[in-house]
Amino acid sequence: MSNKASPRPEPAAQEHVPLKARNVAFDWAGTPLHWVPGDPSTTHTINVLHLLLPAGERWFVHVYKQALPLIRDARLREDVLGFIGQEAMHSQAHDGVLPHLRAQGLDPEPYTAQVDWFFEKLLGDRTLPPGRARQWWLRERIALIAAIEHYTAFLGDWVLNAEALDAKGADPVMLDLLRWHGAEEVEHRSVAYELFLHVDGGYRRRARTWALAFGALVFMWQRGMRFFMENDPTLRDGKASAKDFWRGGREGVLPEPAAMLRSIPQYLSPSYHPSHYGSTAQAAAYLARSPAAVAAEAGSPGGA
Ligand SMILES: [Fe+2]
Ligand SMILES: [Fe+2]
Repeated sequence: MSNKASPRPEPAAQEHVPLKARNVAFDWAGTPLHWVPGDPSTTHTINVLHLLLPAGERWFVHVYKQALPLIRDARLREDVLGFIGQEAMHSQAHDGVLPHLRAQGLDPEPYTAQVDWFFEKLLGDRTLPPGRARQWWLRERIALIAAIEHYTAFLGDWVLNAEALDAKGADPVMLDLLRWHGAEEVEHRSVAYELFLHVDGGYRRRARTWALAFGALVFMWQRGMRFFMENDPTLRDGKASAKDFWRGGREGVLPEPAAMLRSIPQYLSPSYHPSHYGSTAQAAAYLARSPAAVAAEAGSPGGA
């Protein structure tokens, strides 16, 4: 049986844009510990992003630099370079939240040390000899990134539309970080999958790495929520609970579990292509009004 997906999934028209990194900066001085007011559970569920993304997105960049020599298509190469620039900036922006959490009495170090180990050692280069084993491991990691990017695009699309967070009075600086990042995830949502198709595209590898990525994300996310709730200095006996997670989904301040479940067969469908989910126009509209992205544009050499 062939391991190749066939026919090649087609991207949606009008969903490709040239990618550029925006040199954003955020001032956390006015952001409260519970930046979703009165809802530490939702705050910390979303805060897990700040624990996972600095190391995770640094790892994307590390792997993609190794993938560049495999790319034989000029436009895909440009897209991958744009993707690298954007992910490096995302990683730095989320890293910038950690000192603010520490200043508020929530030291993330015990958890981020584990995340660093996961990405740098477990998913690192390993001491593999040049040749087939090294190539296999590189392709495996490219496929893993494509699966993870299915979820970053899902979350990006969700947060751009999560009006319940505004209605609940969520901190505007944190919302801008999440929506600027989310918009760029939607903007570049096809790149990782296109790179996977270019270097491999095999269905068994897609399904296997999806299972690994999904399992690892669920495991790390629930551990991160537990870590935050148990170490939040303002909570007595804080505990992460599935009930709060479902309640957040119902209120629209977290993604709905049903929507997360629906995203599984989407990625596993033979005709899957990321461009069919989310809206590049909506992402561009947010980036045009994001305070951080607008300030970055004004400060860039080509800006106003
Ligand atoms: Fe990102
Ligand atoms: Fe991304």
